[in-house]
This record gives sequence, C-alpha cells and structure tokens, in this order.
Amino acid sequence: MRYLITSALPYIHGIPHLGNFVGSIFPADVMARFLRMKGEEVLFICGSDMHGSPLEVAAFKAGRDVKEMAYENHKKIKKLMEDWLVSVDYWGHTDSEENKEITYEIFKKLDERGYIKEEEVVMPRCNNCGRVLADRWIEGTCPYCGGLARGDQCDDCGAILTPDQLINPRCVYCGSFDIEFKPIKQLVFDLPALEDELKKFYEERKHLWPEYVKKTTEWYLYKEGLKPRSISRYLNFGFPVPKEGFEDQVLYVWFDAPIGYIGITYQWAKEIGDPEAWKEWWKMPLASDVFYVQYMGKDNVFFHAIFFPAMLIGSNDWKLVDVIAATQYLTAKGVKFSKSRGVGLNLETAKELLPVEYWRYVLAALFPAHKDTEFSWDVLVEKINKELVDNISNFIYRTLSLSHRKGIDLNTPLGEEEEREIQKVRDFARRIEEAYMEFLGFNKVVSLVNQLASEGNAWLNRREPWKEEDPSRTLVVALYYVKVIALALYPILPLTMKRVLDLLGVSLSWDEVDQIRVSKVERPFKLFKRIEEAEVEKWRERFSPEEKKPSVSIDVVLNAKMMTGVVRHVQEIGGDEERWLLIIEGPDGKTYRAAPPIKKKYSPEDLKGRAILFVPLEEGVKLSGVEVNAAVPLAGDSIVVADRNVIGKVR
Ligand code: 2FM
Ligand code: ZN
Repeated sequence: MRYLITSALPYIHGIPHLGNFVGSIFPADVMARFLRMKGEEVLFICGSDMHGSPLEVAAFKAGRDVKEMAYENHKKIKKLMEDWLVSVDYWGHTDSEENKEITYEIFKKLDERGYIKEEEVVMPRCNNCGRVLADRWIEGTCPYCGGLARGDQCDDCGAILTPDQLINPRCVYCGSFDIEFKPIKQLVFDLPALEDELKKFYEERKHLWPEYVKKTTEWYLYKEGLKPRSISRYLNFGFPVPKEGFEDQVLYVWFDAPIGYIGITYQWAKEIGDPEAWKEWWKMPLASDVFYVQYMGKDNVFFHAIFFPAMLIGSNDWKLVDVIAATQYLTAKGVKFSKSRGVGLNLETAKELLPVEYWRYVLAALFPAHKDTEFSWDVLVEKINKELVDNISNFIYRTLSLSHRKGIDLNTPLGEEEEREIQKVRDFARRIEEAYMEFLGFNKVVSLVNQLASEGNAWLNRREPWKEEDPSRTLVVALYYVKVIALALYPILPLTMKRVLDLLGVSLSWDEVDQIRVSKVERPFKLFKRIEEAEVEKWRERFSPEEKKPSVSIDVVLNAKMMTGVVRHVQEIGGDEERWLLIIEGPDGKTYRAAPPIKKKYSPEDLKGRAILFVPLEEGVKLSGVEVNAAVPLAGDSIVVADRNVIGKVR
C-alpha cells in the first residue's frame, strides 16, 4: 500500500495563523512523517489556493496587481512552511498550467456527460459601477451576529451567507449602496444527478470516517438533500470558463482548488523528472493500491465529502479519498488569531516568540481532533514547562547524561524486573502506534508520551542508578524508554528528536521500537528551556490586549475623533448583563461595533434607528468576548443622542 496525504490548500490573502495550521497542514505533516518512519511509501502534497475573491479583494484594497500579490504571498507562505518544518513532497499552486490542464479535462468530461447546466442565478449587481458582485465583492452587516460580513461568509460568526442576506449591502469596488439583485446566467454543477453514486461512495467508506464528518455528510446526503451548485463567477483571477458564452466568467475557486491536489501532484511529477508519475497516484486502476487521507478544518467537509468526490465520480476513473480527517477548531478567546484582518498570532509572529518546535509540541498536545480546544497563554506555559521541559526533556537529559558519565555496558543481560519494565514500554509503543493510525490521534500520542516519561522518571527514582555500583541494567531500561519517546515524538519534534536518536545511534525507523538496545550514548544537550513568566507577560500585552485593558481608556476617548452614526442593530452578547452590542452605521458608510454598558437603561427598541455619538478606535479590541472597533461615550449612564440631520464628524 502507498499513502497519499493532502492538506487543504490554504488561501493566501494572509499569513495562516495557528488555528489554520493545526487544522490541516500540521496533522498532515505529522502523519506523513510517522508513516515514512514506518517504512511506508508516502506522497504528501499541499500548496497555495491562489484563486478566489479574498485575495482579489485584498489586492484591490491594497491597490496591487492580483497576480503579483498572489505570487509574492505564495512564495512567502512556501518559505514559512519550510520554517515550520512541513515535510511536503511538493508545495504547488492552483493556478499552474498543470492544474489548468486537469481542471479543463474534468470540466469537459462533466459537461459532455450533462452534469453541467446553465441556470439563471439571482446575483447582486452594482448600479453605480455596473459590476456583478461575486462573494467578497459585496459587504454588509451579518444578519446573525451584526458583524461586518461578505457575500459568502461572516468572518465573525462563521455563518455561510448568500449576498441577499446581507443587511445594507455595499459594493466593495466603488462603495455604492445602490445594489440590485438580478438574474444572471451562470453554470451550475448538477449534484443531484450524482446522488446515487455519492451515497454509494459514502457508504463504502464511512466506517473509516470520524463522527463529525459522517454527520455532516449524512446531513447533505439524507437530510437537506443535494442541490445544484454554481461553478462560475464574475472575477478577474481564475481559470476562464472553457465554454462558449461563458468566457467572461472564471471557474469558481472551489472547482479548481481541490483539483489542485491532482494538479500539484502533476507539478511534483515534472519536478522529479517523471512527468507521468502523477497518474500512478490519481488514475485508476494505476492507483488501486493507494490509501488516500485528506486533512482539513471542519468548514471544508462539504467540499471534500460531496463536491470534489462528485466531480471525480462524474468524470470517471479517479482515485477517491479513503479517509476525510477533518479537525475541529483551535479557539483562542483571549488571543487575536485573525488571518483576514491581518493582525494577531500567525505563523510569522509566533515563530518570533518561540522556536517552532515549541509550538508544534503545544499544537499536538492541544490537537482539536474531535472537539474545539481552547488555546491560552496559561495552557502554553503549562504544556511547555510542566510537560515538555520538566517531564520529557528532563527525563531524556538525566538518562543520557548519567549513562554517558558512568560509561555503562549497553549489552548487559537483563533480569526479570527489567524485562517487566521493558514490556511496559513496549505496550506504550503499541498504543502510540495505534493513536497515530487513527489519523487524528496526536493529542493521545502526546499524552501517552508524557505517561511514558513519568514512568521513566519513576523508574530512575526507584532504582537510583546514581547510587548503584553498576547501573548498567537500570540505565539500559531507561535508554529504551528514551528511544521509544524519541521515536514517538519525532513526527512532532523532528529536529530535536532526530538529534536524540543520533546520540544513541538509533536509525529513524519505527521498527526500532522492537529492539531494546541502543548502540551508543553520546554527551547530551539541553533539549528545551522553560518559559519565563516575564516573557509571557509581554506576549499577553501584544496579542491579548483585552486581558490587560478591560475597557477603553479615557485618553483614547479624549484624543479621538467623535462621529455620529445610526444604530442599525442591537444584539445580545452571550450572557453579558451589562452590555449591548451595537452595530452603528458611520458617516463614512463603514460599519462600527461598540459594546457600551447600557443594557439596564435601554431596550433594543430605544436604540434602533437612533443617531448617537461614538468614537472609532484605531485598533479593534475585545469586550466581553466580542470584537469592537468603536466606543460610545456616556453621560452618566446615558448615551449622547445626536440630531439625525447632522450625521458626520463632530470634530
Ligand atoms: O478553506 C480554505 O482555506 C480553502 N482554501 C481550502 C481549499 S482545500 C482544497 F480543496 F484546495
Ligand atoms: Zn460599484
């Protein structure tokens, strides 16, 4: 069997943050490393998702050429992946000639077979600049949370939207609110026509899929039912639709992005000088012995369990996925994590704080396999100081330095007690392997390794080899502990654990866990350092300002520009008894969010539609867990009401 591993291809309009990384690229990397260590043939493919409106909008707002910006970001992210020790066989990009060739091949097959249809879809068009506004080219207020949302999704609450749901929609090109919804000719992919094949595909594989993925897939297949999905867009950057009458549109990003897994394999094949090699991984029956695992965040499940398989089934003879390893979210209430807003703890800023292996350890320990998991600075400190340093590194260091100093006999025969201890370690090794082979069991691996290190420390404390005349037997057992720990952690901490294995003359192979002995012991190094509280304080200051300043300081208000705006929405903030979340339309047409403590005095009806005084903040802050970008000055406990006719800057 050969393993094909792919990670969801990140959009490149911003630097991926820790949450993006832990959701797909990181687990794909850890799994690929483990399987290679097991001697399996592995191909690990990922790359940049180049098309789509987020980047186009970002380029437009920055006054940049979209293609130039795309390549700049692609290169930056590719380099960043090396820094984060991602062992992809190839980091490609979805706008390549190779991907275009395969995308067109699939499109044409689907079209010939009647799975692609023309349909009139009601779309927003700007009456001012005349553009059809796809996805993120239209912005407005989210009907669910009141945040600033785009035509396809609200970044604040994650709701999937259609443009007609936006409140006060606005053209992103020209800022006009004069938007009309008109039927426009588009191409749709007839998913319902493939329903039977999709159900068969699902039923054959579901025993391998995580609960969440099964539930989501079943919801689409058996509850909501399949609907035709639009696959053409009025955007500039993308593959032009290869069909007469539609050349002015491009293919929807989710059409060419998953095909990117194939296109990038094709890029890889050319790179290794064997341009046909991609077929062995993707074309049936050549790829019959391939076991294919896809990693992704939970918001990508529909596209991988329904949409992409339907494209492949409808165009025939492709290798289909075996395991959809979708992850839940790593959440961070107190930490700014955002990618689209360009601030916060992303892969670039995180590695300035700590070497990447520290992060990789924490991400594996907190791996959100089956439930959302909360990241915080306190958890980070605990994982590093108590687990990685005090427990694991300390055990490895003391075993190696004692063994090295005492010059022990590595081939000394073992007695019964030692054999029993060895058996215990073997058992752990087996459980660790099982956890890896669940494809999402990385937090279990970390927890098992910690138990192993605790047992190892207890073994040393019980036997006290520093007092023994010949501590060889004790330390041979402890060295076996170290060997298994180093091999088990190698996929997560590849640099440090490879160095440990080298000190012991152990090769990078999981088969080694069956052999007790190591071949040498060289002088060890200190593996990891504790994090000091003073350092963490600085990070809190930088990335979690709301933990520091619970309310907006008076200086900010005194020096700020006041504006008047109209309260458009009033929202509950989960459980907060003091504050309302106000969505205010500013005089500049922008949407502002403020959370003043006025709940006791005003009802939503008192506030809606009223013109009030507010202060835009230079940087967003979090209050009661919601992001706000404005403050409302209060006179006592009252808001300052403005005359509706003088909406504009007061000073
Ligand atoms: O959600 C995302 O970031 C998408 N760019 C994932 C694409 S996965 C694949 F299909 F390319
Ligand atoms: Zn416009």
